[in-house]
Amino acid sequence: MSTKSIKIHLMITLLLVGLFITPFGTAMAETSQPWMNKSLTANERTALLLEHMTLEQKVQFITGNLNNYYGFYNEEMQELGIPALKMADGPAGVRIANPDIQDKKSTALPAPIALAATWDINAAKEYGELLGNEAFNTTHNILLGPGLDIARFPWGERNFESLGEDPLLQSKLAIPYVNGVQSYPVMATAKHWLLNNQETERFTINSIASERTLHELYARPFAEVIEHADLSSVMCSFNQVNGVNACESEAVLTTLLKDQLNFNGFVMSDYGANHTTVESANAGLDLETPGEPNGYWGSQLITAVEEGKVSEARIDDMATRILTEMFSKGLFDQPAGNNPLPVEEHGQIARELAEQSMVLMKNENNALPLDEDALDSIAVIGPDADNASAAGGGSSMVNPTYTVSPLEGIKNKVGEDVEVSYAPGSDPISAGDILPGPSAVPSSLLSPIDGDQNGLTAEYWNNINFEGEPSLVRTDNQVNLNLGFYNYEGFNAQSPKLETTPGDFNSEMSARWTGQFIVPETGDYTLSLSSLGTGKLYINDTLVIDNESKKLTTSKKTLSFVKGEKPDVRIEYSTGDSGGQQDFGGMIRFGWEAPTNVVDEKIQEAVELAKKSDVAVVVTRTYDSEGYVDNSSLDLPNNQAQLIKEVAKANPNTVVVQMSGRAVQMDTWDDEVPAIVQAWFPGQEQGNAIANVLFGEVNPSGKLPITFPVNEDRTPVSNENQFPGVNGESDYSEGIFVGYKGYEKEGIKPAYAFGHGLSYTTFDYRNVKAKAQRKGKDKDLTLSVDLNLRNTGDVAGAEVVQVYAGALPTNVETPTKQLAGFKKVELKPGKQERVKIELDPKAFSYWDEDKGEWVTPKGEVPIYVGSSSEDIQLKTTITIK
Ligand code: BGC
Repeated sequence: MSTKSIKIHLMITLLLVGLFITPFGTAMAETSQPWMNKSLTANERTALLLEHMTLEQKVQFITGNLNNYYGFYNEEMQELGIPALKMADGPAGVRIANPDIQDKKSTALPAPIALAATWDINAAKEYGELLGNEAFNTTHNILLGPGLDIARFPWGERNFESLGEDPLLQSKLAIPYVNGVQSYPVMATAKHWLLNNQETERFTINSIASERTLHELYARPFAEVIEHADLSSVMCSFNQVNGVNACESEAVLTTLLKDQLNFNGFVMSDYGANHTTVESANAGLDLETPGEPNGYWGSQLITAVEEGKVSEARIDDMATRILTEMFSKGLFDQPAGNNPLPVEEHGQIARELAEQSMVLMKNENNALPLDEDALDSIAVIGPDADNASAAGGGSSMVNPTYTVSPLEGIKNKVGEDVEVSYAPGSDPISAGDILPGPSAVPSSLLSPIDGDQNGLTAEYWNNINFEGEPSLVRTDNQVNLNLGFYNYEGFNAQSPKLETTPGDFNSEMSARWTGQFIVPETGDYTLSLSSLGTGKLYINDTLVIDNESKKLTTSKKTLSFVKGEKPDVRIEYSTGDSGGQQDFGGMIRFGWEAPTNVVDEKIQEAVELAKKSDVAVVVTRTYDSEGYVDNSSLDLPNNQAQLIKEVAKANPNTVVVQMSGRAVQMDTWDDEVPAIVQAWFPGQEQGNAIANVLFGEVNPSGKLPITFPVNEDRTPVSNENQFPGVNGESDYSEGIFVGYKGYEKEGIKPAYAFGHGLSYTTFDYRNVKAKAQRKGKDKDLTLSVDLNLRNTGDVAGAEVVQVYAGALPTNVETPTKQLAGFKKVELKPGKQERVKIELDPKAFSYWDEDKGEWVTPKGEVPIYVGSSSEDIQLKTTITIK
């Protein structure tokens, strides 16, 4: 059919639809429900609908309902034609709560921190579009993402859900992410508003920060998506902000968000974060998400209105804000459906995003890329290298449509001519590894009461006093347990190699582990218990550690043992009444610090494999999750640092691939290996993406969106007033000097700087020119930098050119380096490009607390252009007039 005849055909069809269907269908609905008329604006439709709503209906609409689809939907209001709000968690994929929808499976994307490492606006758009598409086609119309919490310190357990430590990088990626999601009839939700930067005491912590810190740093990514991406919704957080619960703070919800940042969308509470009726309603909360047990709105809010404590105008405002967004984003006109996802196509997008996110941290003597033709054998080593579960846990955990493990990916890549063998090298990583304290005693040194398996005999009770017969008896490979929230079905990203613990032990419980410790070498061993509640360690029936606390604490005891001894071990643990409070469950780890000559059996097996292989690829991982703990130790869990060192000693061609959502401490092993790839949590296609980078099919171009410190003591957030806080208060006394800005201010040299990332090629920077102009009738400041970039190596590659503004010409203290702009540029070998980068005027301004506005000081500002915040290639200045 020609284009013309298609048009005629379409016109006839429309006419017929108009003649026969409209009178009995849509038109009828439009008369009785005039807000269904699509030709009206969202505001007009909202006003018409609101007129028809009783107070009861409005309150029903703005109150979440726990009984509906796992608490993630509110009620559809058929009589008014209002579709249910169906929410799905993000931000790393669409987490489906309803088991009737596609087996709860969707595409597991690389974690948001990996997206941030792409420094690529197009990648963020693709990421957002995929989320919008999958939310829409799995019946959802609200996506609970992106996460715009600044990664304030390197051990933050939700850093993997964030877009890094810099507000400009976050903003530049969040805008296309939100636009991508909202290109479908799906509303994006920026979370968590505000100062939600730690998991320790997350429901109660009082985060204290100055106005300037809020405007310049923590509120900034939210402000940008409000201004540039027509954001529908914001989720207020569990914590307090400057003394008031975020979801009940007028200063936070109304003054800052709605008045100063001009947010016209609606605010929903984090799940269970609303604790009041009148206060939250008057403060500016617009939607109470399903709370526990029944929430505080609903009938209680109606009573408050009737008693005059909350005005009906405020209720109208809440409903108006939500309805306007629903109309303008198409939720009334294009209902979300349940349509099969294009699994392969979306899997390929997940792979490409993961490939772009990987950061080549070091590459001495061009150890990478590996040359398949020059290799006969590869040892793949690592506790979870043979499965593809390296994702963050908690509410962002996605049930992937399929997975590719690093081992599979490498095998697929090299074909049959290269022998690929596997050794785990340590016990699997689990939610227990989030707990603080020394690594868990390896299973190979534990023997149960009976049976040939390594580990200890475990007995579990559903009561706190070991009463009656245990309800579960099994062998646990290690004592490294983290139940409650961390053990809910669907929230658990631990190795499938580990047995799961039934959910009925998730609140109050007790357990006993019995067996022997097999002493591998003569020497002093520091044994430890990290636990919440009461943990007792008996060696040969003598109590050696009694760790009783309502907080998670570690106690240690150093004992001397002789090689071959097998002392009896008994550990008795009870949550006491700590279990079950606010989702806390049993938390206990039996840890150790062993003499340096002790190398456990699993490490020895890995070493043997590495010795007889041409190359060893050690795939490490951490366990990161939303929950109740931020473990401020940056050590790799389960003795993986020792594993790397021993393998590297056995084979100098040892490459480390690190799967973590946050920084890890590398100082004890970094010098021992020639190459390190930071792979983040790479999503379901992780194995193929890793293999493509290792073998050079993909030239790495990722750059760090967070600073990697040398260790946890050498960071700008280093005193306990700042983290975890004292007496329930976390003081953001570092102000705006977070991440690289803080390292520079304090003169702390990091292990790997913000913005760092190598390539298999090299780039030459030249001829920089910076320009500042005032344009238009408002004399808006436009700033830019031009430079020549050349690919001076032999392969094509992409470089992220970064521009930093120096200290501003004012007495107010400003950062000595602040990201002002960046651009990812792809170049063929030998090719050159004149690169133009627009700079953000906010990098040349500060928030003046007295004036309550942004101020741009006049004068000269140093400009640094480089391939990281540390590796500055060109310098110039810009003069602001
Ligand atoms: C998290 C939110 C999430 C919500 C619903 C909360 O625990 O903080 O990010 O959207 O749960 O799962």
